[in-house]
Amino acid sequence: ALILAGGKGTRLRPLTVYTPKPVVPICNRPFLLYQIDTLRRAGVTDITLSLSYQPHKIEQQLGDGSDFGVKITYTVEPQPMGTAGAYKFAEDFIREPTVVFNGDIVTDLDLKKVVREHNERKAAATIVLAPVENPSSYGVVETERDGRVRRFLEKPKPEDTSCCNINAGTYVLDPKILDYIPAGENYSFEYGLFPDLLKRGEKFYAHVPADAYWIDIGTPARYLQVHHDILRGDVRGIKLKDRRGSFDSATHAEIDELSIIADDCTVKPGAQIINSVLGEGVHVEEKARIENSVVWPHTRIGSGAQVVGAVIGR
Ligand code: GDD
Ligand code: MG
Repeated sequence: ALILAGGKGTRLRPLTVYTPKPVVPICNRPFLLYQIDTLRRAGVTDITLSLSYQPHKIEQQLGDGSDFGVKITYTVEPQPMGTAGAYKFAEDFIREPTVVFNGDIVTDLDLKKVVREHNERKAAATIVLAPVENPSSYGVVETERDGRVRRFLEKPKPEDTSCCNINAGTYVLDPKILDYIPAGENYSFEYGLFPDLLKRGEKFYAHVPADAYWIDIGTPARYLQVHHDILRGDVRGIKLKDRRGSFDSATHAEIDELSIIADDCTVKPGAQIINSVLGEGVHVEEKARIENSVVWPHTRIGSGAQVVGAVIGR
């Protein structure tokens, strides 16, 4: 697999100023580990991370992947080459059909099924779809009855399409299409390669999962949303092991069952924590209330503070 993780994460600023989007914590785990889990479950253990922005911080956390049961190699573009350009840049590592992931989506998709379907159809490319209400910030994919892609339209205006199946940022690609991507220049799947595959009449198919969870975590609202979905247990593929680390809690503090509290937190008397995630070493003063929120490690919440629907870090 190749994971595209070279974007700057601009829409998630300021969260991504010091923490690159691929390792932004979700329920206190670096985000990319969820994608690595999805891949490993499907038997894909040979993974290339395609980086550009703050690559060292990502390498530092994930290393060679052996802690997570996979083998990770890295490619680092001197400047961002675009999504397809990044795939081309990793050409030396690619010999077989490859699963390509946008590095900012959480899904519990059955990837094995997608790969099987891709192989059965002898497709040049297979793209996974997700239904959304408003497709304008995604790539819209119109399909024929037999699943062939008819049209791919990135970030459409509402008047340009009536379709609401979008590109879920998961592909299986046959290496032959590397030849269609210009070397050494910025080129994208969305504006370049996919429309080109259609023009060439290549076998470009869509896969519509029966019922999978899917979200792009690239905005603060959706970053918060994925936490609520996981806490509630809506993401079948993600099982939370232990919601409680070892931390100090006063007897007169209230912590609900859904919340996750990491190691070394302190929760003072009269504090309330509801449907929230506290990272390591968070300090909650007396009578503070934290509800539907995510608090990054080593943050102090002052006494009596009301923190609702927020993402807070130092
Ligand atoms: N290595 C590398 N180099 N990675 C890149 C580059 C690059 O030049 N540009 C973007 N990426 C990575 C980003 O880090 C991100 O993980 C992924 O590619 C997609 O980029 P985004 O910037 O998040 O794109 P988007 O969310 O607006 O749209 C894309 O994702 C949607 C689904 O979430 C498109 O693929 C849409 O068609 C799709 O619907
Ligand atoms: Mg995105």
